[in-house]
Amino acid sequence: MIERSDGPTLGPSVFDANERLLAAEAALAAERRRADALSRIALSIGTDGNLENVVQAVVDGGVELTGARYGAFFYNTVGEAGESLTLYILSGAPREAFASFPMPRKTMLFAPTWAGREVVRSGDIKADPRYGHNLPHHGMPKGHLEVRSYLNAAVVSRSGEVLGSMFFGHPEPDVFDEASERLLVGLAGQAASAIETVRLHRDMARELEERRRVEERQKLLLNELNHRVKNTLATVQSIAYQTQRSARSPAAFREAFEARLMALSQTHNLLTEQGWQGADLTEVLQAEFEPYDTASGRFIFEGGPALRLSPKAAVAVGMAAHELVTNAAKYGALSNARGSVGVRWSVSDGSDPILTFQWTERDGPSVVVPQHRGFGRRLLEQGLANELSGQVQITYDPDGLRCVMRLPLRSLEPED
Ligand SMILES: Nc1ncnc2c1ncn2[C@@H]1O[C@H](COP(=O)(O)OP(=O)(O)OP(=O)(O)O)[C@@H](O)[C@H]1O
Ligand SMILES: [Mg+2]
Repeated sequence: MIERSDGPTLGPSVFDANERLLAAEAALAAERRRADALSRIALSIGTDGNLENVVQAVVDGGVELTGARYGAFFYNTVGEAGESLTLYILSGAPREAFASFPMPRKTMLFAPTWAGREVVRSGDIKADPRYGHNLPHHGMPKGHLEVRSYLNAAVVSRSGEVLGSMFFGHPEPDVFDEASERLLVGLAGQAASAIETVRLHRDMARELEERRRVEERQKLLLNELNHRVKNTLATVQSIAYQTQRSARSPAAFREAFEARLMALSQTHNLLTEQGWQGADLTEVLQAEFEPYDTASGRFIFEGGPALRLSPKAAVAVGMAAHELVTNAAKYGALSNARGSVGVRWSVSDGSDPILTFQWTERDGPSVVVPQHRGFGRRLLEQGLANELSGQVQITYDPDGLRCVMRLPLRSLEPED
C-alpha cells in the first residue's frame, strides 16, 4: 500500500474499482454471449424451414446459455405401447452416447414433463428423492452420460399439446440456477413455436398440393366430359340422319329414333355406373335384350368368356345388338310365339385375338333374302365393321337369320 502524508490512501479503492470493472466487463461479455445465442436462435427459427436445424439451434443455444454440458430434445410420440419420448436432437454429446439406451419412460421424474406442467431442476439429480425408483436401472442406465445437474422442461404447443421435452445436464452438481430455469422456459416456448411454425408450413404445403391435384383432376374430367358429349352428339346426329333416310313416315321415324336413343342410353347407364372405364359384354347385351323378354328364355346364352369393352366398343356393340333384336322382333324369330335366339361368342388365341360373336335365330317364320337395306343392315355391315375394324356377315337362312361378327380384341378392350 502506498502511504501519502497529504491525503487519503489510494490503494483499496483503486483495487475495488478495478475489480468492479473486471466484473462488469465479465457480466457484459456474458450478456453479449447470451444476446448472441438468443439472436442466433431467433434467426434460425425465422429463416430455416428445416425442423431439425431449428430444434438443433434451440438446443445448442440452450447448452450455451445455461452452461450445460449436454442438451437434448425428445419428441413425444404416441405409439401402441402408449406415450414415449424419442430422442430427436442432441447437443454436446455424440448420438451414440444415447443409442444403446431405451427412451425415457413415464417415471416419477419424467412424469411432470408428460403432464406438460413443471420445470424439473435439480442441483444433484442422484440425490433427488424422485430419482432411482424404477426397474431395471434404478436411475440412469449404466454407461449413461454422467449427469448430476439436471434441468428439464416440457415443450408445449399453444393448444396445450405436449410436443416433447428438453433436457439439459452437467456432470458437476449445482450448475443451474433460477436464471437457467427461466431461460429454459423461454427456450421451450421458442422450440414449441418453431415446431408449430414448421408444421403449419408443412400442412399448408400439403393442402396446396392437394388442391392442385383436385383442380388438375377436375380439368381432366371436364375435358373428358366435353369429349364424351361431342361423341354422343355425333352419334345421335348420325342415328337421326340414318333413321330418317329409311323411315317410311314421320311416325315410323319417331318410333325408331326414340328406340335407338333408348338403346344408346342403356349403354350410357352401364358406362356411368362404371365411371366410363368400360362395360361388360354380357351386361351390354342384356340391357338391349331386356325389353324383348329375356325372362321367358327366348335369348339363349350359349356361352362365351367374360369380356370388358371400352366405352366406344360398348356403345357400338349395344347399338348393333339393338338392331339385331328389333329386326328379330319385326321379321324374325322373336316375331312369333315360339322362336328363339342363340347368342354365343369365343375369343381366338394368338398375338391378335379375334372375338367371334354369333347370333342365330331359330323357329321363326321362314326367311327370305331381302331386297331392302335399311338402318339395321347398314349399321351392322358397315357401321360396326368400320368402327371396330372387323367383319360382319349376315346370312338369311330360311331357318332363321344368322349374324356372325369377327372383331379384333384390340379394338374392343379398354386401353388400360
Ligand atoms: N331377323 C330377321 N329375320 C328375317 N328377315 C330380316 C331380319 N332382319 C332383317 N330382315 C330383313 O332385312 C331387311 C333389312 O333390314 P334392316 O334392319 O336393314 O331394315 P328395316 O328393319 O326394314 O328398317 P330399319 O332398320 O331402317 O328400321 C328387313 O326389311 C327384313 O326384310
Ligand atoms: Mg331394322
